Amino acid sequence: MSAALQLDDLAIRFGGVQAVAGVSFAVEAGDFVGLIGPNGAGKTTLIKIVAGLLPPDRGKVRLGGIDVTGDATAARVRRGLALTYQIVRPFREMTVLDNVVLGAGYRRTSNPFRAMLHIDRRRESERAAHILGLVGLAGTERKLAASLPFGQMKRLEVARALAIDPKVILLDEPLAGLNHTEASKQIETISDVNKQGITVILVEHNLEEVMRICRRLIVLNNGLVIGDGEPRAVMADPVVHDAYVGGGMVTHAEA
Ligand SMILES: Nc1ncnc2c1ncn2[C@@H]1O[C@H](COP(=O)(O)OP(=O)(O)OP(=O)(O)O)[C@@H](O)[C@H]1O
Ligand SMILES: [Mg+2]
Repeated sequence: MSAALQLDDLAIRFGGVQAVAGVSFAVEAGDFVGLIGPNGAGKTTLIKIVAGLLPPDRGKVRLGGIDVTGDATAARVRRGLALTYQIVRPFREMTVLDNVVLGAGYRRTSNPFRAMLHIDRRRESERAAHILGLVGLAGTERKLAASLPFGQMKRLEVARALAIDPKVILLDEPLAGLNHTEASKQIETISDVNKQGITVILVEHNLEEVMRICRRLIVLNNGLVIGDGEPRAVMADPVVHDAYVGGGMVTHAEA
């Protein structure tokens, strides 16, 4: 069986900065991977390459065994890739429910407005309401997305990612800016998502939460993988430890 996601020798340079310097790894379907590393390690850049938001200088991205390296983001989304932050930024002037309904249509056509016309409104609304319940946003359906407090907005991003019924979900710092209570709720939601069989790749500086919920840790430093495996074993590795201390790792655990 092919991996849910497979990266082969991905690299990209921005001027003098080799942001990603030859990254290879495969993620099995259903796994929960924490992608960590000091500021500037290349985590977001790697996620953008996987999502089709940046073309790599070399290397390949495979989703479910299919080479998608040359495909646009929308084509990858139709193959079951979802990510929060860049793609699923909520439409602020729409209701919370419509944001999720629109997310659901996005997988079927690359044009969000055609998506709105083509879907069965009632069935999709019911499904969207169900997803909002999963992320703890029941009762907010008719509010404007713009009126949600920040913590709920972050959960709406996850709801929109879930709406496309993804196989693989990429989360770039989904806890950033959340207080302790909101962060715990968000983590619980992400955990539930993984329990439904969705493969999760989580970029996060909150190491306490990452260690608690991820089954595998991949550590990037200067665009290279310097650690990969069982979270505790990876964190005990002196090479990984030195990268954090030397790189002035910022954690939000105390926030
Ligand atoms: N569009 C760009 N143009 C030039 N340099 C870039 C660009 N995007 C990222 N970089 C550089 O590439 C390197 C990797 O950045 P990236 O944002 O991927 O790191 P990161 O691991 O996500 O860091 P953080 O934890 O702070 O979010 C950094 O040196 C950054 O300054
Ligand atoms: Mg980043």
